Amino acid sequence: MNAESLAARLAADRARVDARLEALFGERGAVVPRLDAAMRHGVLVGGKRLRPVLVYAAGRALEAEERALDAPAMAIELIHAYSLVHDDLPAMDDDDLRRGQPTVHKAYDEATAILAGDALQALAFEVLAGSEHPRLPAMIRTLAEAAGRDGMVAGQALDLAAVGGHPDVAALATMHGHKTGALIRAAVRLGGLAAVPEADHRLAALDTYARAIGLAFQIHDDVLDVTGDAATLGKATGADAARDKPTYPTLMGLEGARRRSRELVEEAVAALAPLGEGADSLAALARYMIERDH
Ligand code: IPE
Ligand code: IPE
Ligand code: MG
Ligand code: MG
Ligand code: MG
Repeated sequence: MNAESLAARLAADRARVDARLEALFGERGAVVPRLDAAMRHGVLVGGKRLRPVLVYAAGRALEAEERALDAPAMAIELIHAYSLVHDDLPAMDDDDLRRGQPTVHKAYDEATAILAGDALQALAFEVLAGSEHPRLPAMIRTLAEAAGRDGMVAGQALDLAAVGGHPDVAALATMHGHKTGALIRAAVRLGGLAAVPEADHRLAALDTYARAIGLAFQIHDDVLDVTGDAATLGKATGADAARDKPTYPTLMGLEGARRRSRELVEEAVAALAPLGEGADSLAALARYMIERDH
């Protein structure tokens, strides 16, 4: 798939999930309008929608029915949005800018941001549970494991514990694999589960792919924190260094980090071999992970 058709595909999938997320908030009233507004701010404003796009691409690679992909695509983005709202809190990364806007606790207040994150997480499971797919239990377990104590939340705990420390490359890969990799793996697996049963060997190939792009994605996020500019990124740069966070660039240097992310993308693309041409957009997405400027 060339860069132009990938861009069109990304834009179409992004528009698809955006429309469904808008409709989700549009179709229900709110008990507390301020909480609802904070949730909308956290999820509807900006964002690349990479995880939903991965759900669609992985699902199509295994010939899933497109409409079976909408609920998992929304659910993973709702979890991701919640993770960002909490990641930005003063007790965590203490950031003021996200997706080119004030962070939720800046636009509202800290307690509202905590509650908005809580409610976004619950809404993700509500949306997924409403999807009536025959493999729904496996999908719910996939999302729960990826989000929780052995997934993203574990990674965030490792990230906080690592401040000021000097982990080795393996420890950093474990941290990144959890805080960022877990949701990316879940996105890919959810797309796959919408198409085939859990025992299908192609899910294992997809998982090898997803592990590699998940790590490459966070390495590139670390690189952009050093080399990017805040206006393009929509979030502050230099934030990791300011908080003394160990990152791939601090450990391996910028060139070492870039090299590692390129190796991982090659590994990811190689893992797609059993899937044939249907996986072209997954290969293109793998490359995009480390070529993006935001
Ligand atoms: C940012 O993720 C947080 C990380 C896991 C590094 P994205 O770069 O996908 O953020 P949005 O969704 O586009 O804002
Ligand atoms: C965020 O990692 C991971 C999660 C939100 C789970 P970062 O803290 O590096 O993400 P940014 O750079 O703030 O987007
Ligand atoms: Mg963080
Ligand atoms: Mg952060
Ligand atoms: Mg970062």
